[in-house]
Amino acid sequence: MSTENIEKFVSEFARSLAESSFVKMTLGHYKGDDPHLQKLLIRLIKTKKGTRLFFLYRQDTRDTAKNFDFTEGVRIVRDYLGADFFSGHLFTTENDFQLDVGKKGKARLNVAKPTFKTKPALEHDREKTLQIDPKSFYLKALGITTDSGEIRDKQQDKWRQINKFVETLGYLFDKSDLKDRKELNIFDMGSGKGYLTFAAYDYFVNARGIDAKITGVDTKKELVELCNDIAKASEFENLRFVNGTIGEYDVEKADVLIALHACNTATDDAIFKGIKANADLIVVAPCCHQEIRPQITPPEMLKNVLKHGIMLEREAESITDGLRALLLEKSGYSTKLFEFISTEHTPKNNMIVGTRSAKNIDDEELEKEIQSIKDFYGIKEQKLEKLINTTKIQLKTNSEK
Ligand SMILES: C[S@@+](CC[C@H](N)C(=O)[O-])C[C@H]1O[C@@H](n2cnc3c(N)ncnc32)[C@H](O)[C@@H]1O
Repeated sequence: MSTENIEKFVSEFARSLAESSFVKMTLGHYKGDDPHLQKLLIRLIKTKKGTRLFFLYRQDTRDTAKNFDFTEGVRIVRDYLGADFFSGHLFTTENDFQLDVGKKGKARLNVAKPTFKTKPALEHDREKTLQIDPKSFYLKALGITTDSGEIRDKQQDKWRQINKFVETLGYLFDKSDLKDRKELNIFDMGSGKGYLTFAAYDYFVNARGIDAKITGVDTKKELVELCNDIAKASEFENLRFVNGTIGEYDVEKADVLIALHACNTATDDAIFKGIKANADLIVVAPCCHQEIRPQITPPEMLKNVLKHGIMLEREAESITDGLRALLLEKSGYSTKLFEFISTEHTPKNNMIVGTRSAKNIDDEELEKEIQSIKDFYGIKEQKLEKLINTTKIQLKTNSEK
């Protein structure tokens, strides 16, 4: 294929870096293997090692980022063009360059007057500007950091999980109808020691300036008391923890409902509370799936696959979470199911997200689909389905909220 215009585009990119006229670049029309990747945004940042190219990979549920030196960055962009990404937009202070790679590999390059005549001020490395301040009192009180504000060695995974959770929550919030809200009512079901509840509060209230009220609910009285003491000492006025079970707690006026690693069917109780309260956003990371596995009678065609305990366990987990997502859809939510953090940090890393949707749903069709999945595996009962079917939920439209 003719790569002349691709080469020209890449050499303008390299030249702009060498001559300090580079402003930013976007690569789009992604056709590579990653089903979640949408585009790549490139800009400059200042790091300890000097100025670097900051690659922000925009995905449908979250962003990931990497830094490269100029030579490596230019090489990567060259490899991507015409193989993974089929369009590029380069902004320099001299010109804008628009590259489009067609179906047969033919590339067109348009050169236009510059949109930006001056370069933007360099940002510092994003890793240094975490949304959560490691010096926060609550992190010390919860044992994540030392007295001098260093992350304890044993808490590194938890720290990563906290930051990833907050980043994911912020992203989901920005993509939802809640994005312009200045007040928020959030419930965290099965809040445990409150790491994520505190971080969510700190993020919305202190980093985003939103008037958020957060309630954590947990059956463990001593943890609830500890968390309330730390919230008070942190002067987090609208953060409170309540002792009780998710199933019995009356959730009213929820904008966001979270349940992270709530055990077994407590996740179903939490999702149900969110649906019932018409929460705009329901975010759960399930753990210990025990309900479905003993009910499964392996279908004949899968008999020899599911005879292995580990396979049956994974199948049961997938079916449970898949059914939960379908039940959310049946209740008027659009759903996403993804890994929110790498398995090396926690094995309990699947996240189910439901965003209240105004789209019409064919609930009869969904009902049939759910029933046929249950029939296929011989499943008699699923907790969330039972809760939904035995309670009449009045779903509100967006304008009624
Ligand atoms: C594994 S911990 C997770 C804590 C926290 N969400 C996190 O991710 O760090 C699960 C918590 O859920 C609580 N829990 C489990 N079932 C519950 C229920 N039905 N009602 C309220 N809390 C529950 C447990 O007491 C425990 O503190």
